[in-house]
Amino acid sequence: MAGETKIAFFDTKPYDEESFDVVNREFGFSIKYHKSRLGADTAILTKGYPIVCAFVNDTIDRAVTDELYGQGVRLIAMRCAGYNNIDLKAVYGKIHVVRVPAYSPYAVAEHAAGLILSLNRKIHKAYYRTRDNNFNINGFLGFDMYGKTAGVIGTGKIGRVLIDILKGFKMHVLAYDPFPNTTAAQEQGFEYVDLDTIYKKSDIISLHCPLSKETQHLIDAVAIDKMKEGVMIINTSRGALIDTAALIEGLKAKRIGSAGLDVYEEESEYFFEDFSGGIIDDDILARLLTFPNVLVTSHQAFFTREALSNIAHTTLQNIKDFIDGKPLTNEICYQCGAETCNKKANGKCF
Ligand code: NAI
Repeated sequence: MAGETKIAFFDTKPYDEESFDVVNREFGFSIKYHKSRLGADTAILTKGYPIVCAFVNDTIDRAVTDELYGQGVRLIAMRCAGYNNIDLKAVYGKIHVVRVPAYSPYAVAEHAAGLILSLNRKIHKAYYRTRDNNFNINGFLGFDMYGKTAGVIGTGKIGRVLIDILKGFKMHVLAYDPFPNTTAAQEQGFEYVDLDTIYKKSDIISLHCPLSKETQHLIDAVAIDKMKEGVMIINTSRGALIDTAALIEGLKAKRIGSAGLDVYEEESEYFFEDFSGGIIDDDILARLLTFPNVLVTSHQAFFTREALSNIAHTTLQNIKDFIDGKPLTNEICYQCGAETCNKKANGKCF
C-alpha cells in the first residue's frame, strides 16, 4: 500500500538519500529525490506527487504554494524543525505542513560547545599552524571557562542541553526566555534574568530561540553596545537573529571578542554547496570570513548519525499518519505556528 504513495524530495544530498533509504525499508514509500531546491522553477516537478518533502532553504511562498496545490500536493513534510521559509498563511486550508520538532538537541548543543571551545583556544587556527610545522603559540591565548558567565537565550530543548554542558565547565549560567522553565532552572542550577542583564554580564552568549518577527535582529547594534567588551557570540539557531552588519561593526571595534556562526541570514545562497572554485558575491559573508576570530560552519550543527536517523523516522511517520488519516501531531499552521494548534479539528489544523 505504502509503495503507491509517491513522495517528491527536494534539495537532497547523498547523506539524506542514504538515511531515508535505510528508514524507508520499514515504510516502503515510493521516493523520488531531486537535488534541486523547491521553488518557482521546480514546483512543476511535483506533478503526480501528492506529498513533498522539503528542507530549510526551499522556498515555499504563495506562488509556489499555488503551483503545488494545482499539481495536487496535499502534504508538505519538512525534514527539519524550522519553518520560517514557508508562507504558512498561503498554505493554510490547502496543504498540510508537518515538521520534525526535535531530532537531537544534543547534536546542536554539542556543536555550539565545539564552536565555543575552538574560538576560545583557537583550535581552528592551531590546526593549520602545526600542519605547516609552525609550533609557535603566539596569539592563541584563551580564557578558563571555569567560573565565567554564559548567557543562554532560549531555554528550550537545545538551550537546556547546552546549559548542562556549560555547567560541566562550572560556568555560571544566566538565561532569558519569555516562557521561563523554573523547574529546569532549579534542577540545572541556572538563573533567569532579562536580556539587558545577559548582555551586561555574559562572557559568552549563545542563541537558542526560534526566528520570528520578535526575534529578528535580536542582536543588533543596540544590543551589542550593552555587551561586555570581548564577548563571544554563538549562533546555531537562525542567521537573522543577528544583524550581521552590526556584528561586523562590533568585531571591527573589538567590542565583540569572537563569533561562532553555524547560520547566516543570507545563507540560502551558499550553505550546503561547494563554492571553492568560485567567487563569493556576498560582501558581508566575505567580510565575515576574513576575521581570525570568527568561525563559520555551514548549518551543520544538526549533522550527526543519530539526528539524521531520527529525522528520517519522524518525517516518514508524519507522512504515514497523514495517509492513514491519523491526527497530525507535528502539524504547523499560521494559526498556531507550532505543533499544537488550538484550531485542530479531528487532529488536523483544517
Ligand atoms: P524549542 O522550541 O525547544 O526552544 C525554543 C525556546 O525559545 C523556547 O523555550 C521558547 O520559549 C524560546 N523563545 C521563544 N521566543 C523567544 C524570545 N523572543 N527570546 C528568547 N527565547 C525565546 O527549540 P529548540 O529545539 O531548542 O531549537 C532552537 C532553535 O535551534 C530552533 O528554533 C532552530 O532555529 C534552531 N536549530 C538549528 C539547527 C542547526 O542545525 N543549526 C538544528 C535544529 C534547530
